[in-house]
Amino acid sequence: MNIETGKLNPGEARCPAISTQEIIAADKVKAPGWVTSESYQYLGSEDISKERYIDPAFAQRELESMWTRTWQFACREEHIPEVGDYYVYDIGPWSFLVTRTEENRIKAYFNACLHRGTKLRPSATSGYASEFKCPFHGWSWNLDGSNRQVLCPWDFPHVDRASLNLPEARVERLGGFVWINMDPDAPGLREYLGAEALSHIEAWKLEDRYIHVHVQKSFPANWKLTMGAFMEAYHVLDTHPQVAPSNADANSQYDFYGEHVDRFISCLGVISPHLEGKFTEQEILDQFTVGDASVLSDDRPKVPEGGSARQAMADMFRGMFEQATQSDLSHVSDSEILDCFSYTIFPNTFLFPGISLPMVYRFRPDPKDHRRCIYEVMFLRPAPSGGPRPEPAEPVILRDHQSFTEAEGMDPGFGRILDQDTDNLLAQQEGLECSAKAGLTLGNYQEIRIRHFEQAIDKYVAMPAKVPTRS
Ligand code: FES
Ligand SMILES: [Fe+2]
Repeated sequence: MNIETGKLNPGEARCPAISTQEIIAADKVKAPGWVTSESYQYLGSEDISKERYIDPAFAQRELESMWTRTWQFACREEHIPEVGDYYVYDIGPWSFLVTRTEENRIKAYFNACLHRGTKLRPSATSGYASEFKCPFHGWSWNLDGSNRQVLCPWDFPHVDRASLNLPEARVERLGGFVWINMDPDAPGLREYLGAEALSHIEAWKLEDRYIHVHVQKSFPANWKLTMGAFMEAYHVLDTHPQVAPSNADANSQYDFYGEHVDRFISCLGVISPHLEGKFTEQEILDQFTVGDASVLSDDRPKVPEGGSARQAMADMFRGMFEQATQSDLSHVSDSEILDCFSYTIFPNTFLFPGISLPMVYRFRPDPKDHRRCIYEVMFLRPAPSGGPRPEPAEPVILRDHQSFTEAEGMDPGFGRILDQDTDNLLAQQEGLECSAKAGLTLGNYQEIRIRHFEQAIDKYVAMPAKVPTRS
């Protein structure tokens, strides 16, 4: 608040409805500190230049200056549980063989032969290897990256095989994810995330989960434009009208932590401020649990006299998840059970640690077309304690015309939401290209994650190119 004028300063205004923290504070089972904290700052109101989404030269700068310096989620540990298992992670023109070389050691090799450059394993593949042998002339490498064979060594007296190791990217592990970074000089992953965001991630124990559904689709828009479609709840009323009756959209909370992590908390079981007074608590619950009012039955869940849809949903979901996972969730807060927590780990990973819909999104630019990107959604489930760890699901790859509802294992209601999210993308990409306006205008609060993200992009693309080279 500006003391002299009594007016709000930019970024201080909030939706006048009940706040996210007030909603959560009224819950029966109280939330932990990582839920009840806020971390927003005003970052400016200037338009975001549209060039970053439409200019292939900008995409090239990202490739050379940003992707080569940042920590990226390459695979889950359950993708490579045994020594010799490998997973090929591709980003732009680069490709890495992420390999478990010892029981507790994972390395990431640049996926290219040191003879004449052939890729050692095809992109987007995974499997088991006792060695990495090049298909062209048979040079091969041990799992630890040391050279195993140079065919006809007499012809290569100038090659020192003892130093012919596969070049490596850096690897760190956190939350069951394997992260890589091409930059030998980058800060470590934990420093990159910062202490507060790290404490959130550690609290979720995502290492105790595994991927049970994995869906991939190519989208017709720049990868950053696509990321932005998932960073705010501002679009819920018009893009997902079926959700608004039970989603506190305009009063969602937005935070960021340092340069590389931001989040929103979007409460469920609470009506959108745009629809205030238009639905009863029972109708909010019906909308969420049944969706289609025409199929309401007498034995549907009921809101107790004087109770709220949110509390009824939290109690019901707690019971359902306890039964499904055979675990005691009595200590887990209503908010964690119910709400949508969305974190972005710069540059391209979203983590959703909430109990009702634990997910990961990953976005990668299409290396051949700056107007397209590759989107993946992975749904996580708790790994059974004891017994063998289930294998991660193979990705279901959808074609352009296919709906997310067609992917096996996808919840149909959620598949419809993803279809709605992505139906806007081509129109937005093409609209920006034909627009007479030079930039995009952002809300100071609800769209802060987009500004925060784009400011990190700006910081990296302003750096000199750092294309990986290893002698
Ligand atoms: S290019 Fe790999 S062995 Fe020749
Ligand atoms: Fe959406």
